[in-house]
Amino acid sequence: MDQFPEDIYTEPSNIDIDTLKNLGPLRGMAGVWEGNRGLDVKPKAEGPKKQAYVEHIELQPIDPQTNGPQLLYGLRYHTHVVKPEQVKTYHDQVGYWLWEPATGTVIHTLTIPRAQVVMAAGKASADATEFELIATNDSINFGIRSAPFLEYAFKTVEFRIKVTINPDGTWSYEEDTVLMIRGKSEAFHHTDRNHLKKIAEPTPNPMARK
Ligand code: HEM
Repeated sequence: MDQFPEDIYTEPSNIDIDTLKNLGPLRGMAGVWEGNRGLDVKPKAEGPKKQAYVEHIELQPIDPQTNGPQLLYGLRYHTHVVKPEQVKTYHDQVGYWLWEPATGTVIHTLTIPRAQVVMAAGKASADATEFELIATNDSINFGIRSAPFLEYAFKTVEFRIKVTINPDGTWSYEEDTVLMIRGKSEAFHHTDRNHLKKIAEPTPNPMARK
């Protein structure tokens, strides 16, 4: 752990409070977005099933966050997914996208109401327009935690998400949630992808608004 300082309490001085200016590769994701070209491949008893979906994502800047000397900027998000023309929730997800400028690290936390949480990470440059994050269920840091039924029936062994910020101001993602389904010897790739168009600008973080 010698990449970390001895002094674990002193916070950095002169922190820029304007999160929108300090989001590195996440800058192009701030705002409110809609995507109606989503494609999900999900596990069904009879095998993989494809399903089109419509997604609404709100990604709003939070105030800079410190852990002692560690400084993180970020977005808090809520994703809501329905099948086309339907009201019933098909997928719901909340969490943060975080950027640590000092190490060029992007961290994505996700919580879904299946009783599952994931934290994935990857490296990127501040001006990157493509980056990939990974979580594995055997990692202490960037891992996957499922309540007992899911661990028994649909054990999630890996999660990865690749984000592309497009030149026209839209962004896209491709994600792969790798499941070991009870009774099957081969891994199942529960995949999702979508292309997001902005429908509203982000609201600046509380300190920047003041
Ligand atoms: C836009 C993204 C996603 C959509 C639309 C989606 C949708 C779904 C749906 C509809 C099912 C249930 C299959 C069925 O019984 O009909 C399912 C299963 C599952 N999903 Fe996702 N999912 C998404 C992302 C994720 C992510 C990010 C994770 C975790 C990292 C995840 C974990 C699981 C697990 C463990 C199951 C198996 C449990 C079950 O089938 O009851 N999903 N997903």
